[in-house]
Amino acid sequence: MSSGLIEHWRLIAALLLCGAILVVRRLRGGSPSRGRTLSGGLTASEKHTAGLKPFHTDASAAREPGEWTPVAFEYPAIAPCREDVSAVKPVPYRPFKWGEYHVTMGIRSMPWDEWTELDREFAHFHRIREHRIQTRGDKVVQVLPERPGLVKGAHDAAVELVHELAEYLSRRYPDVYRATRVDAGHDGNGWHGQPSIKDITIIPLGKTYGLEKGDPLTIASLLIQEDLAIMIEGTDGRYYLQGGAILIPGSWRLRDKIGMSLDDIHISGTVPQFESKLQLSMSRHLKRMPVDKPIVRNNYSFQVVAPRDKADPLDPDELAWCKTMKGDEDVVEGQPGFLRNEDFGADYPGHSAGHFSAAHSDLANSSEPVDPSLVRLRVERQTLRRLPKTGAIVFTIRVYLTPLEELVKEPDVPGRLASAIRSWPGDVAKYKARSVFENILEYLDAHHQRQLDSHVEGVTRQRCE
Ligand code: HEM
Repeated sequence: MSSGLIEHWRLIAALLLCGAILVVRRLRGGSPSRGRTLSGGLTASEKHTAGLKPFHTDASAAREPGEWTPVAFEYPAIAPCREDVSAVKPVPYRPFKWGEYHVTMGIRSMPWDEWTELDREFAHFHRIREHRIQTRGDKVVQVLPERPGLVKGAHDAAVELVHELAEYLSRRYPDVYRATRVDAGHDGNGWHGQPSIKDITIIPLGKTYGLEKGDPLTIASLLIQEDLAIMIEGTDGRYYLQGGAILIPGSWRLRDKIGMSLDDIHISGTVPQFESKLQLSMSRHLKRMPVDKPIVRNNYSFQVVAPRDKADPLDPDELAWCKTMKGDEDVVEGQPGFLRNEDFGADYPGHSAGHFSAAHSDLANSSEPVDPSLVRLRVERQTLRRLPKTGAIVFTIRVYLTPLEELVKEPDVPGRLASAIRSWPGDVAKYKARSVFENILEYLDAHHQRQLDSHVEGVTRQRCE
């Protein structure tokens, strides 16, 4: 066959393939993004978005910094989760690897069904979160007004967020959340052309929240187990923390970071290799982030908790604040660090990062080995998505605490964890306060060896070095 004929057939095959893809998408009701061009013959669910700009996946990139035109975007159909939440175990994220450690963004795309996660700890989290709001007020929830010429306020984004969450939650967990909508025909601001949600009830907790009746970000934060940060793009192209419900952060405080740019948040926290490995890719990613490409990432750290007889009965695992490692949340001035006193020194202009660290914690001043039964793995699951109306980026942070004693029963985990801890470069080891709990390495090694000796399936036959 001549090469011209081959090209001809290739072209026909490519056209047929494109046609087939379009037909499949149409049959499925659109691409996963549900980005639609508004044309004649709108469906009921599309009518309410008719005044908005059609959504295109890359619309985000081509605009002036700080500007956003609301787009017509509908959250994709959600698979309802009908499991009994009180029986759902927390997801066992174990985001550490054998071998070398590299600082990377570590992002992957977020399945739309999994914007937030709910499990049997919901009631426990809710008690702590509610208590923190009642006792700490604007130290834990804040929505900043506009800073003229620099960045918009977060109020509109908070209103959009609480409505998005209520729509998502009532579809994703229909046995947990019951939504009541405003009268039919009153408006079409809910998802898929439905009237807006007025109230939402958390059925197992017997709590009802009126979405227009209180502070939207506070309500949003009480509906879920995640903490929430609202990032708004400024006219300088940076993203600013303009709103936050940071109720269980463990090791940083909203009041130290509110209003800061994302760069300053990370630099002031002395996040290792931020400027060399993360800053550029992060800011590029956020600038271009379209509404249909949410992302998720995990991180992990360790915390040592107080013995049970000295623990706070409401929060014995120090979910909200790692007091044993960081000292009293209200005593420390400036931005707390995980460091021992002798590690002080990393100062950042304009912040007092260097001079307080864990000076008020007993642990920081002790050289005693820690008791492995007091060590917890703290994993975070973080998601980022852009809201279609305000263009704000919502950052969710979900915390999972697992006792080390439980963790070592999992196949391969003690070995992998020991390998990961040993592979942290110096700056990472300092950030994660390895010196405080380094002695757990022996404990992990012993459990790894035990798993090898008893031929537990899936254990890597490797030394933990
Ligand atoms: C793709 C986006 C992001 C990446 C890749 C990223 C990366 C990181 C990394 C590597 C750390 C060190 C701890 C760890 O995760 O292992 C960190 C810490 C932190 N990040 Fe992010 N981050 C992102 C988004 C955000 C956002 C949107 C916020 C908004 C509040 C934020 C707030 C923080 C804070 C408060 C800390 C702790 C700093 C401290 O210790 O004082 N991050 N981030």
